[in-house]
Amino acid sequence: MDILLNKNCIQKRISEMATEISDYYQNQAWHRYAGEPVTIICILTGAVFFMADLVRQLTIPVELDFIRASTYSGKTTKAQPTKIISPSTTRLHDAHILIIDDILDTGRTLRTVQTHLAWPYPEDIHTAVLLRKPDKAPKDIRVDFVGFDIDDKWVAGYGMDDRYGKRRAVPYVFVDEG
Ligand code: IMP
Ligand code: MG
Repeated sequence: MDILLNKNCIQKRISEMATEISDYYQNQAWHRYAGEPVTIICILTGAVFFMADLVRQLTIPVELDFIRASTYSGKTTKAQPTKIISPSTTRLHDAHILIIDDILDTGRTLRTVQTHLAWPYPEDIHTAVLLRKPDKAPKDIRVDFVGFDIDDKWVAGYGMDDRYGKRRAVPYVFVDEG
């Protein structure tokens, strides 16, 4: 098994991202003058550990919510449209949304989620992902904060599954040869 990112390396980068994200929001007028929170929308299931580790290091006020999008299993990547199967329950009108996902691959999930969350007219939407496959990710998908760019291989661990829904709970990211 090929470990791509060990526990320390993931945690170090998440601390850096927490600083980048906190700095960004701390410089927004609405934060400085009104102390408004950032509404974190975590895309289940893969992003749970990333979200949990990241938000506990942010120095800005946050509210947490979860959304579930239909996913495909890695081996049967038939072009099914991605759908929101469990929407956010937070009032999002005028909110400052930060979408958190584990990995940007074909971009279908983020495109669907970003479009879905634009409907209640939030004030702004930003996106953070732990991993991105730059060779595959469409250039027009906006992602504001990226942990690591990786090769186009199936990875698992740290929340991500091995195409069969398993191995999510290991604390490192490995290349899953299938
Ligand atoms: P996309 O819609 O193709 O960008 O894929 C996004 C979703 O598919 C992510 O939120 C993951 O849940 C899953 N995914 C994509 N690539 C991988 C991978 O290499 N390992 C595990 N899950 C993945
Ligand atoms: Mg996912």
